[in-house]
Amino acid sequence: MSKTCEITGFTNSQQERWALTHGQLTSNSKSQTSEISSTVSEKLSKEVLQFISSQEVSKSITARKEGIIKDLKKRFDIKFRGSKLTTFGSSKSGLGLRNGDVDLCLEFTGEKPKKVLNKIARMLRDDGMEDVTLIAHAKVPIVKFVDQRSKIPIDISINNSLAIYNTKLLKAYSDCDSRVRPFVLAIKHWALHRGICNAAYGTFSSYAWTLIALQSLQTTKPPVVANIQQGSKRNLKVIEGTEYDLTMHDNPRTLLEENNSQSVGELLINFFESFSQNWPWDEKVISIRSGDMIARNKKKWKQQKPHILDAVIDENNLRLGKHSLPIEDPFDTLHDLSRVLRPEGAMDIREEFLRAFKILNEGGNWNKLTKTKFPELVNDSPNTDLFEDLRMMESQDVKDKLGELQSELSVLESELEIRNNERKNAIDMSKALRKNAELQKEENKIANTLKPRREKIEQVKKQRDSVNNNYIPVYWIENEMSKVFERLTEQVDLMRVPSLQKEKELFSWFFELQSMYEHSKKTRELHNEFKKLLREQKNALSELENVKDSGNDISVFGDFANFDELAHKLLLEMNPMHNEKRKLKREIGRLEAWLRISSRKNSPKERFNNKKRSGRRNYTKKRNDINMAEVKSRAASGGALSLSDLDALLNSGGISSITNQQSNGSNRDKKKSKKKNISPHRGNRGRSRKNI
Ligand code: CTP
Ligand code: MG
Repeated sequence: MSKTCEITGFTNSQQERWALTHGQLTSNSKSQTSEISSTVSEKLSKEVLQFISSQEVSKSITARKEGIIKDLKKRFDIKFRGSKLTTFGSSKSGLGLRNGDVDLCLEFTGEKPKKVLNKIARMLRDDGMEDVTLIAHAKVPIVKFVDQRSKIPIDISINNSLAIYNTKLLKAYSDCDSRVRPFVLAIKHWALHRGICNAAYGTFSSYAWTLIALQSLQTTKPPVVANIQQGSKRNLKVIEGTEYDLTMHDNPRTLLEENNSQSVGELLINFFESFSQNWPWDEKVISIRSGDMIARNKKKWKQQKPHILDAVIDENNLRLGKHSLPIEDPFDTLHDLSRVLRPEGAMDIREEFLRAFKILNEGGNWNKLTKTKFPELVNDSPNTDLFEDLRMMESQDVKDKLGELQSELSVLESELEIRNNERKNAIDMSKALRKNAELQKEENKIANTLKPRREKIEQVKKQRDSVNNNYIPVYWIENEMSKVFERLTEQVDLMRVPSLQKEKELFSWFFELQSMYEHSKKTRELHNEFKKLLREQKNALSELENVKDSGNDISVFGDFANFDELAHKLLLEMNPMHNEKRKLKREIGRLEAWLRISSRKNSPKERFNNKKRSGRRNYTKKRNDINMAEVKSRAASGGALSLSDLDALLNSGGISSITNQQSNGSNRDKKKSKKKNISPHRGNRGRSRKNI
């Protein structure tokens, strides 16, 4: 069991992690007086201003950002007709660090915001963007992603109009005084590198730190900036059903009564001193809308349980009571930006204020003050040089890497092909099984007709046979009848008159035949029907055979639904592989492009063209004819030089090259320096092509 402090309840590791806070909470004398000399503040000012100049966003990054926004706009115009894409956040307010994200707001009411964000996320993933994340449950749902080429992080939110207004407010503050930007950026940079600027990890958001910084500039004596939201004429606007007071003063500079002449260094020292020595949040709420911190009571933002200290000592508690370190949003005044804090995050914030002030008190510098605590959480600066990592690589290494990627691609492609074939087979099987199922239905239908027909055949046969078991063909009866009839009706030869007996027999035979005829006719009808039914039965049986023949016996393979499922599973497996393939292809394209560019730059033709561009073309040929070693030795010994000699000498490194040659004359070194001069990242051409 680790030991706990009786006063704070901190365990040993907590006492270590928040040593300064622990010290402050357990010591009697709460505040430490500032002993920071003017030399420290002057040095800090200088360092901060130097840091700010390094934060200027390069033209290439700006161009890349604009390109991304333009491209997204085009895509959204098609996908979400009538939508509007607006940039907000630090890239618009001017209060952004070089590695800050691009915040975009899509105004679109045609579909539900979450559905729109889902569609955007899918689109970006299909485009091969990196780290596409949908944060659907935040107060403002967003899609985050990283531009795969420049590594610029981008956030897209939907109908986040209020943020567009608060960005305008921040910009107005930034425009008030030239110290606002360096001051705010210094605080944002410090917070970011000290691991306390990440709402997702339970510390303040970048926006919250901007508000804290601005409040400090409003409350320093005399203030550097006035409260811009003041003015008698109020601008009320309804956004998504809620009314907001969006008043902003037209000319805020006129609001200041006194001039503050402190340097950025002094302002920063004051900032760290006031937050570390007089922790404001026990009693107050940060409120730039009011121009000063306001009392918790007045705002009715009482700190709710669990309080920070209680929450951190309870190991099972990850939650912090509401309004722990309250910061009021300037427009959405019901919104407290501290609601994202977690107990440990809030403690880290307090510890970092104390650490910063201690470092400044000890005369520490900017680098120490902002030493990166969690490198993995700090975004690398955006990179718009597509070939940055390749410029220092030997071309053979690039070729080797290219070879590796190409074989990786071919493995991936064959794996994809296998899956694709498997999927095709699964689809074919599913189709065949479906067809089989249909055939089965057909077969059953035919088979169902067989039995009743068979019964009918039996019945007709029985009837037929019962009518006349000794079936005499009708045509024979008809013939016989007509013969008898003729005999009975023919002219009688008086000499051979038939006997009466004979005539009686003929008559009775005729009647017999007549009755036979009736029977036989009935039998014939029944017989015909019998034949018809037999024919039908025969046809049905052969049809049945056909149906059976056209379906293979594949039911042993299972149900078609199993194959549908398999095809779907394979498709899901193939999707990330396609993304990987796209990535590999892009990287292969990039390496090939670099090899092309660098070989062009090293080719004699290119060198010739470069010289042509630099206006020295006329002498190139001649110089090639000149013996440079001889010219250099003549120059070194003070001998006579012609104009062509002089030009050749200047082009081969000038007078200094003579001394270099004399001091490091080895061939190997000569080769080295030549290689350096023509390396692909040097020269104007290299620079201008950097961002292709
Ligand atoms: N925003 C907001 N409410 C929040 C967080 C952010 O209204 N709780 C708005 C603000 O307009 C803010 C913008 O969203 O400027 C972007 O937020 P974020 O990227 O956190 O801040 P930035 O000021 O852009 O800072 P960074 O340079 O770090 O991107
Ligand atoms: Mg931002």
